[in-house]
Amino acid sequence: MLDQISEKYHDESRQGEALMIESPLAAHNGRKLFIESYGCQMNFADSEVVASIMLEMGFQTTNDFNDADVIFINTCSIRENAEQRVRKRLTDFKAAKKNKPGMIVGVLGCMAERLKAKFLEEEKLVDVVVGPDAYRDLPKLIQSADEGTKSVNVLLSRDETYGDISPIRLNSNGVSGFISITRGCDNMCSFCVVPFTRGRERSRDAHSIVNEAKDLFDNGFREVVLLGQNVDSYHWKNEEETEQVNFAQLLAMVANVHPALRVRFSTSHPKDLTDEVLHTMAKTANICKNIHLPVQSGNSRVLELMNRTYTREWYINRIEAIRNIIPECAISTDIIAGFCSETEEEHQETISLMNLVRFEYAYMFTYSERPGTPAAKKLKDDVPEEIKSKRLAEIVQLQREHALGRMNNQVGKTNQVLIDGFSKKSENDFAGRTDQNLVVVFPVDKRFKKGDYVNVLIEKCTSATLLGKIVN
Ligand code: 5AD
Ligand code: SF4
Repeated sequence: MLDQISEKYHDESRQGEALMIESPLAAHNGRKLFIESYGCQMNFADSEVVASIMLEMGFQTTNDFNDADVIFINTCSIRENAEQRVRKRLTDFKAAKKNKPGMIVGVLGCMAERLKAKFLEEEKLVDVVVGPDAYRDLPKLIQSADEGTKSVNVLLSRDETYGDISPIRLNSNGVSGFISITRGCDNMCSFCVVPFTRGRERSRDAHSIVNEAKDLFDNGFREVVLLGQNVDSYHWKNEEETEQVNFAQLLAMVANVHPALRVRFSTSHPKDLTDEVLHTMAKTANICKNIHLPVQSGNSRVLELMNRTYTREWYINRIEAIRNIIPECAISTDIIAGFCSETEEEHQETISLMNLVRFEYAYMFTYSERPGTPAAKKLKDDVPEEIKSKRLAEIVQLQREHALGRMNNQVGKTNQVLIDGFSKKSENDFAGRTDQNLVVVFPVDKRFKKGDYVNVLIEKCTSATLLGKIVN
């Protein structure tokens, strides 16, 4: 069954990638860590915090799990097939562990939080289970495992933001870095497991965010992506409550680090996206003109069942605000096909909304019931799988047409592109992205290198890539 087009926010090619760093921070303890991540960008950012903690303990990373002393798998629970993927991967680790007595296998992230100690019963090879707010406890948990005791820490926190831990940039291209600005989510969309696996929403100290951005810039990075489940509800105040920072203000502070540092962010919630944020984006050249605004459904009854707390009309109003304030802004979205009791007419309202907005990009899924969520408790997952798939296919087909139309509009235009590195296919070509996050491939020009900005004339396109040449 076609049930998912792409893991959220992320290049599908990065799913399950082993994360590596060359040089150790502290004295090497002779032991090696293999860490693999699934799911959203937040998970990849968390793995960089975990790597920092483990490298402090003296571990080095390896990209061969057979060679590792500790294997960590940072997991995702958002849809059932994300969990199945992890279970399958655990079977690969079984043989490695047999060959290497003393090897520790740890499950981190959302599946750890969702299944807790049950994981140890279900998957005998797992030694440690660590939820997203318990990574500081890793040294203790590893020690227990070394002593032969399996252990679990899945305590969720109201204030953990790992704000003081400098993430180790794993497998980074050295150009673009993630910065977590909030953790958790208070929204309780009825289909979503995140509020249960990542806990209550909390905002990280604004100054630690700005310092991390400065640090990245000083180390040659030219783009930061501010991450949160719902960035628009970012709200930080200092202990004395003499200083308060909202998301629009945070954006301006980060953009102020340097005009050559691009600032992106994800994800925005339609109920919280303010005109203040839009005006800040419009007047600040280095805040990228790109908003990820998940709609989920184009029908107000379905949106209410989803507990999204906005209507179709409200969403359209936000789109109009974006178009008025930032006419060139790219808009991407998430869509769920076949949510509980969705009728064909209601699905057609999603189609008509897509035609109205013409999204640049969309992550499209069929509904996957998650145990323990409000929808699983109160609503029936009653749209047959074949209907879900049929509706998804229609959504995907339409989105392809819209994306191709949008890409075609770029042909003949010149765009400023930040070079990410060589293209995946050839070292004769560079790949980079426009302000609107469109991927551009163009022949290498020796005068430039990754991390440089160049002007590229767009000559051709596919629905996913623009092709052009440097015209500096
Ligand atoms: N089934 C299908 N898609 C889901 N998403 C979240 N939970 C589910 C689910 N139970 C999608 C939503 C969300 C994105 C991160 O994943 O579209 O925005
Ligand atoms: Fe899940 Fe909704 Fe929170 Fe997004 S905003 S993480 S979909 S509960």
